[in-house]
Amino acid sequence: MTSDALGNDQIATTLIYPYLNHAVRMLESGYATATDIDNGMRFGCGYPQGPLAVIDQIGPAAVRDVLAARYAESGDHLHQPADLLEKVAAEGGSFTGGSGEGSAAPEFKRAISSVGVVGTGTMASGIVQVFAQSGYDVVVVGRGQDKLDGVIGYITKNLDRAISRGKSTEDEKSDVLGRISGSTERESLAGVDIVVEAIAEDLAIKTELYKDLDRICKPGAILATTTSSMPITQLGAVTNRPGDVIGMHFFNPAPVMKLVEVVTTESTEADVNETVLALCANVGKVAVSCSDRSGFIVNCLLFPYLNDAVKLLESGVEMDTINAAIKEQASLPMGPFELLDVVGNDVSLAIQQELFAEFKEPGFAPAATLEKKVADGHLGRKTKIGFHDYSA
Ligand code: 3HC
Repeated sequence: MTSDALGNDQIATTLIYPYLNHAVRMLESGYATATDIDNGMRFGCGYPQGPLAVIDQIGPAAVRDVLAARYAESGDHLHQPADLLEKVAAEGGSFTGGSGEGSAAPEFKRAISSVGVVGTGTMASGIVQVFAQSGYDVVVVGRGQDKLDGVIGYITKNLDRAISRGKSTEDEKSDVLGRISGSTERESLAGVDIVVEAIAEDLAIKTELYKDLDRICKPGAILATTTSSMPITQLGAVTNRPGDVIGMHFFNPAPVMKLVEVVTTESTEADVNETVLALCANVGKVAVSCSDRSGFIVNCLLFPYLNDAVKLLESGVEMDTINAAIKEQASLPMGPFELLDVVGNDVSLAIQQELFAEFKEPGFAPAATLEKKVADGHLGRKTKIGFHDYSA
C-alpha cells in the first residue's frame, strides 16, 4: 500500500505507536515515574490520556505486536518494542493503576509573595497572567515600554474573552491588572522572592542575565528558568548560587495548559525544589519532576512524534489528512501541523536538534521540510505563515 492510500486509522497508528514505545523507554530508563509521564502529556498537551494509560487500554501485548510488525518492516530501533513493554506484555501486567506513588503535599520552605518575570513574549505574558490571577504581585521586566504594553495587552485580551464568556468580571480584571507592574530596569527585581525567566532561547543571552540576577536579587530568592532547550546546570554555574536555580517549564498557552515541569540540576537545593512544587500547586498547576536533560519529559516525547508527522508528509500523505487523523483517531486536541504552527517551527527545530544531539537516534534527525520552513522564515502563527497560512 502506498502512503497515499493510508487510512486515518493507519496514519494515527504510524505516528502514535512509536510515541507509546518511547514513553515506555523513558519509564524503563528511570528518568520519570509512570504518573509523571502520563500527567506530562495530559496536562502539557491536553491529551485525553497519558501514553502509558493508552497502552494499558489497548493492551500491552497488542501494542507490542503492532510495534514488532513495524520493526520487522522498518528495522528502525525506535520501532523495536521496549524491553519493559515485552516484559509487561509477557506477564499480562499493566503500566498504570498500581498502588500509586503518592507523597505528602509539598510545602513552602521559602516564603513567596512576590514574583518577578523577565521577558515579554507569549510565554512570559501567559506566566505573568498565571501568577497575577493567583494573587501574587508580579514585576515584569522587559526591554522597552512597548514590549511591556504588549504583555498587558495580551492579558487584557484574555481577561476580556473570559468576561465575555461569563467566566470573569471587570472587578477581577482590574484586580489582576493592578497586581502587575512593568519595568525596563532589572534592578526592580531586587525585592522579589522568585524570578521566572522567559527570555530568548540563546545561551549567551541567558547567561548574561543570570550573572546580573545573581548580582541584583536578594539572598534566598529562587531563580527559575522556563527554558525548553538550554542546560539549566550551565545557567546555575554562572551564578554564585547554583542551589537556588531550577527549571519551571510551562506549556503554551501558559494560562490554559496546567502542566509545569519542575527541573532540578544536581546543585538545586531540596528546599528550592519543594517550594517550587508548592508554588505550582498554589497557582493551580500540575507539577511533574525531572532532571536536567534535553527535552525533559514532554518535549522528549512530543517532538519526535511531530517530526515523524513531517516525515509522513514528505512521504506523500496530505497535511490535512494527517491533522484530521490525529484528532479523530487519537483524540488529540490539535493536529501535528496545527501544533507546530502554535509552538513555532524555529522552536520545534531547535528542540528536535537538541534531542538528536543528545540521544543520537538516527530516527530523531530533523525532517528536511521542518528545516526548510525555518530557513524560509515560515515559523508558524507568529509570522502568519508556517505549515498553514494565517495571513487572511
Ligand atoms: N491564552 C489564554 N487562554 C486561551 C488561549 C490563549 N492563547 N487560547 C485558548 N484559551 C482559552 C480559551 O479562552 C478557553 O477558555 P475557557 O474554557 O475558560 O472559556 C479555553 O482556552 C479553550 O479555548 P477554545 O475553546 O478557544 O479552543 P480549544 O478548545 O481549541 O482549546 C487549546 C485550545 C487549549 C490550546 C487546545 O487546542 C490544546 O489543548 N492544544 C494543545 C496545545 C499544546 O499541545 N501545547 C503544548 C505545546 S509544547 C510546549 O508548549 C513546550 C514548549 O517548550 C515548546
